[in-house]
Amino acid sequence: MRIKIAPSLLSADFSRLEEEVKEVERGGADLLHWDVMDGHFVPNLTVGPSVIRCLRDRTDLPFNVHLMIEHPEKYLGRFVEAGGDIVTVHVETCRDLRRTLSSLRRMGAKAGVALNPETPLSSVEGVVEEVDLLLVMTVHPGFGSQRFLKSTLPKLRRAGRLVRERGLDLDLAVDGGISVETAPLAVRAGANLLVAGTAIYGQRDRALAIRRLREAACSTG
Ligand code: DX5
Ligand code: ZN
Repeated sequence: MRIKIAPSLLSADFSRLEEEVKEVERGGADLLHWDVMDGHFVPNLTVGPSVIRCLRDRTDLPFNVHLMIEHPEKYLGRFVEAGGDIVTVHVETCRDLRRTLSSLRRMGAKAGVALNPETPLSSVEGVVEEVDLLLVMTVHPGFGSQRFLKSTLPKLRRAGRLVRERGLDLDLAVDGGISVETAPLAVRAGANLLVAGTAIYGQRDRALAIRRLREAACSTG
């Protein structure tokens, strides 16, 4: 299975964002992960569509926009228009998840859904056919550099089984605390897409960090 790597810009140097994006593109990243936080759903604030739009024509990498915001349905159009190729909403924030996912697809974006560590897989089982990316959070969202929560692995394994049993065509992603140590655990449990902030942008040589992460992920035996 090919493993996809999505560097999270949350840990990048925002004073040189263009260079940070280009470095991981040259280093073999598969997509770019933008963390959008609203200070309500999570206790932190980050960027909005205007920053994402500024970088859109500086790279060919697909943009995965991870919306950690309340009422995401109000803002989908703005994030798609700013360049979001795959837009991920949190199931905990959606009053009508099926509708939110279908409006994303109607806008021409791929539809992602994320689950907090405590949120059960059953909350998305009824809509997985409408999902392009299923994100199992492996930390509590809000901040980078947190410890990977091993308690999320059983859910990840169940998600992997669901994908195989139903023959779903989606990326099974993990986000939070992904490193050369934890990537193999996530991949063995079924993940094929690794979001990593600190493990990539915390290293001086981002290309080397991506290569090491990919090697670790692929050496799961
Ligand atoms: C956490 C964000 C993550 C974060 C991961 O709320 O969703 O994308 O950037 O950072 P690391 O890889 O440092 O745990
Ligand atoms: Zn994220």
